[in-house]
Amino acid sequence: MAQLQVQLNRLTLRNPIMVASGTFGYAREMAAFVDFSKLGGIVPKTVTGEPRIGNPPPRTVETTSGMLNSIGLDNDGIDTFIEKHVPYFAGLNTSLIANIAGRTVADFASMAGKLANLEGIAALELNISCPNVSGGVDFGTNPESARDVVKAVREACPFPVIAKLTPNVTDITKIAAAAAEGGADAVSCVNTFQGMAIDWRKRKPILGNILGGLSGPAIKPLALRCVYQVAKAVEIPVIGIGGIATIDDVLEFLVAGASAVQIGTANFYNPGVSVKLVEQLNEALDAEGCKSVTEIIGTAQQ
Ligand code: SIN
Repeated sequence: MAQLQVQLNRLTLRNPIMVASGTFGYAREMAAFVDFSKLGGIVPKTVTGEPRIGNPPPRTVETTSGMLNSIGLDNDGIDTFIEKHVPYFAGLNTSLIANIAGRTVADFASMAGKLANLEGIAALELNISCPNVSGGVDFGTNPESARDVVKAVREACPFPVIAKLTPNVTDITKIAAAAAEGGADAVSCVNTFQGMAIDWRKRKPILGNILGGLSGPAIKPLALRCVYQVAKAVEIPVIGIGGIATIDDVLEFLVAGASAVQIGTANFYNPGVSVKLVEQLNEALDAEGCKSVTEIIGTAQQ
């Protein structure tokens, strides 16, 4: 059996297969379907400083090989998160990576400070890339803002910090480099691609918020490109996200340069997929004669 452990700077994962924010609830909802101890990590839904009711319905629509969502960061706010969910996380046998989104740098830092000494959290993922709320992508589209927010969070808490990047920029490598400069332990590549769906018969956009974020297999080649470019541009580890559903998808992202991956949309139709992928990763690495998963990371040739 190959060694599956990966090191993302200060964050150690038992294996490189994680589940992505917004596709796995707050973990508790998935306990009947998934043995958490088999996963590399869980990223629960984004939490904000104050409760949010989210965007008007419809909030999701299926598209060719994917889905659009415009949830609008619907959540109960950080205080409820700390009271209701963090104690549950503390009992889980996996790395729990809290995902936070703020309106300002101070907001991010304040949330990081509130979480700072709590048991049950292994790292923070900063959502600087939500396309569905006003200001959601602002930190992720401007290198200085990306650097400042990462730096502020690093100063506010002892946790490893991961910046979740948006692909909706001209050059994602510049944002990744800025996050690294701010002290990010890793970057997650990528959040959803902005898109829309129209019901032409009604002459109307389908989503209540008109625009949404596209995910699923439809975006895989686009996300893979981002991971490949970012992994070449920065020294910090990259976590690949975008349409990953099969073991070949996982291996493509690892070979492109991802040190770990997050499974997102596939959880909606197959909640057990991530555990299956861990098993299949072991088999695939054995078949390749690899003693460790690290032997395959970033091995794509020119
Ligand atoms: C949402 O809540 O609208 C999705 C979250 C995200 O894409 O960051």
